[in-house]
Amino acid sequence: MLYLDRNENLFGAAPECVDILHNADAAMLGTYSRDFLRGVKSTLSETLAQQLEIPERNILLSYGSEDMLKQTVHCYLSAGETMMIPQYSWWYYKSVADECGGTVAEYPLQCDQQSFSYDVKKIVSAIRSVKPQLLLIASPNNPTGNSLSLDELKIILNESPGARVVVDEAYFGFSNESSELLPQLTRQFPHLAILRTFSKLYALAGMRIGYACVGEQYEKLITYSARYLGYNTLSEQLALAALRNKEYYKHVGSLIAEERSRYYEFFDALDSCTAYRSNANFILVKIPSEAMVPLGEHLQSAGIAVKFYSTGMLASHIRITIGTTAENSQLLQVLQTFFTRQLITDSPLRR
Ligand SMILES: Cc1ncc(COP(=O)(O)O)c(C=O)c1O
Repeated sequence: MLYLDRNENLFGAAPECVDILHNADAAMLGTYSRDFLRGVKSTLSETLAQQLEIPERNILLSYGSEDMLKQTVHCYLSAGETMMIPQYSWWYYKSVADECGGTVAEYPLQCDQQSFSYDVKKIVSAIRSVKPQLLLIASPNNPTGNSLSLDELKIILNESPGARVVVDEAYFGFSNESSELLPQLTRQFPHLAILRTFSKLYALAGMRIGYACVGEQYEKLITYSARYLGYNTLSEQLALAALRNKEYYKHVGSLIAEERSRYYEFFDALDSCTAYRSNANFILVKIPSEAMVPLGEHLQSAGIAVKFYSTGMLASHIRITIGTTAENSQLLQVLQTFFTRQLITDSPLRR
């Protein structure tokens, strides 16, 4: 089965990460790290702090950004309180708010012909009326693929002093626009937290490692998330190797951008489909509702999985993870056969 449904980075981790796995020292299996005695959480948090130019205290480590999100929401959302999330977003946001007895309020996303975007004015007016405890922004957002610029984020931060603003940047590094400086905003805006992961760009999803950069209003989370006996030593070594190989990941990011364009080209040629522009390693595509079931069957028989959305406003949309060049060619070929057949048989897909 070819899995193009989970937004994994199928180009794989940097070769140095693979070398580390092959040459791992078995002695590390039985020991804790001693980093806490040096007054830091780990070598990884230290390295990230140096690279991002923020204090080590404000870098938190976690088992992926799912874990960090859960800790953050559990720390700051109590029963009856509200977290604001994008109208179309990762299902987990609502689920984790539910765990705390909190509610979610959705703020709208703008959609024009070929792209989604954040409507900063509407977000600001929603903050004023809802007064949420937590405001969650995903940049890029899953599944719509759109991001928020640094200037737009600053406007929102200036308008939301009463809320904690959490930016889920799981898909950072796939767009041309760099968000390298984003973590430094946590100095200026103590109510900002940025969640990042090694799962996506760095292709280490199986190692479950992520981090957050948080401002000083996250004091409770800083203490709550600290692990005095350290973190997963092997995951940390792989993450450190990934950080040493930024050129490799830059290259992978540009390959993924090229591959994304192949899908745009394919879907743009079909009047019945819309491929939304994305800054991530996936794209959202609107297809005719009558194609959902037959396309699902067609892909199933070809051994390819993509994500199908069947409810709400995204009904009749699919999300495709951008795979390697060969994997994308395989899927595009299968899609070509499907849509050509639909056109020849003069189905309702013909518009
Ligand atoms: C928007 C978003 N945030 C966070 C995650 C979680 O990533 P991880 O826990 O692997 O860091 C995902 C996973 O697909 C995601 O789509």
